[in-house]
Amino acid sequence: MSRIHEALKKAEQERGTSEVVQQMDPDPAVLDALIHPDVTTSGVRSPSVAAPAAAMSGDSLLASIRQTDWRPDPKTMLFFTGEEHLYGMEEFRTLRSRLYQAREKHPLSKLLITSPLPKEGKSFVTANLGQVLVQQHGKRALLVDADLRNPHLHSVLGAEPGPGLSDYLRSEIDEFSIIQRGPMENLFLIPAGSRNENPAELVGSGRMNTLLTRLQPLFDWIIVDSPPAVAVSDAGLLAKYCDGVIMVVRSNATPFDIAKRARQEFGDNLVGVVLNGIDTLPAYSQYYYSAYGNPNGKGEA
Ligand SMILES: Nc1ncnc2c1ncn2[C@@H]1O[C@H](COP(=O)(O)OP(=O)(O)O)[C@@H](O)[C@H]1O
Ligand SMILES: [Mg+2]
Repeated sequence: MSRIHEALKKAEQERGTSEVVQQMDPDPAVLDALIHPDVTTSGVRSPSVAAPAAAMSGDSLLASIRQTDWRPDPKTMLFFTGEEHLYGMEEFRTLRSRLYQAREKHPLSKLLITSPLPKEGKSFVTANLGQVLVQQHGKRALLVDADLRNPHLHSVLGAEPGPGLSDYLRSEIDEFSIIQRGPMENLFLIPAGSRNENPAELVGSGRMNTLLTRLQPLFDWIIVDSPPAVAVSDAGLLAKYCDGVIMVVRSNATPFDIAKRARQEFGDNLVGVVLNGIDTLPAYSQYYYSAYGNPNGKGEA
C-alpha cells in the first residue's frame, strides 16, 4: 500500500462526521458580473455542505512532498508579488467568496477551469485562484495542469514541468511523486508532465478519476486547468470527474456564439463564468479602489 493510501485510510477513520465549511465574509458589491448568477447551478445536486478538509494524518504526508523552487511570473501571478495588483487581487477575493457561496448549495471541491478558446486566461485564473484560496488560514489547494496539449501552468508559476499528470496517467509513476510544493504555504501543483500522443484518452481515463478521488480528502480545493472546450473533447471528459466548472471568457475577444456553445457542453455542471481582461471599471469600483490603491494595475480578471 502506498504512503498516500495509508494516509487516506487513516484520514477516513479519523474524520468522523461532516463539518460545516467555513463561510467567507461577503465582499462589498465589487464586480457582480464576475460570476454571473444566472448561470449558477440550481436544483441538480443535493443541498449538502462540501466535504471537510483532510484530517490531520494528511498533514505529515503533504509536509513530506518535495519543495521546488518556483519563480512565478511577477506580471500575472498577483498574490506572489504584493501590492502591485490591488484591483486584480480584489476580484479574485470576490471570486473566492462566490465559490464559497456556491459550496453552501452543493459539494464543490474539485473545480474545472475551462474556456471556449485558447488564450482566454484559463491558466491565469487557475493559478491566481489557487493563490487566493490558500490565503485563508489553513486552507489547502492543489492545482492540476490537465491541459496536456498546451501545458502552461508550471511556467506561470515558474515550477518544474514534470514529472506530472501524463506520467501518472500512463501508470509510470505514483500520485505522490507528481505533486510539487511551492513557496506559498498550502499551495501544491501537479504539472502536466511529458508530452504524449493521446491526451483525450489519458484525461478521460478512469485513472484520472481515481487520482482526483484519492487526493480530494487531502485538499480543500482541487483546481483543474484544461484545454479549450470547443475545439477538443478533453474539458468535457474532465468535467465528469469534477464537482463544477468555471468558464473563463475574455472581454472583447470571445465570440458570443462560441461562448454559448461551450456553455451548453457543461449544462448544470457550470458553476459560473469569469469575465477576464476587462479594461474599464464600473464607476462604483473606481470610487472604491481610489481610496485603496491604483485601479489600473495589470492582471485584472
Ligand atoms: N487578466 C489578465 N491580465 C493580464 N494578463 C493576462 C490576463 N489573463 C490572461 N493573461 C495573459 O494572457 C496569456 C494567455 O493566458 P492563459 O491563461 O495562458 O490562457 P489559456 O490558459 O486560456 O490558454 C498569458 O500570457 C497570460 O499571462
Ligand atoms: Mg492554459
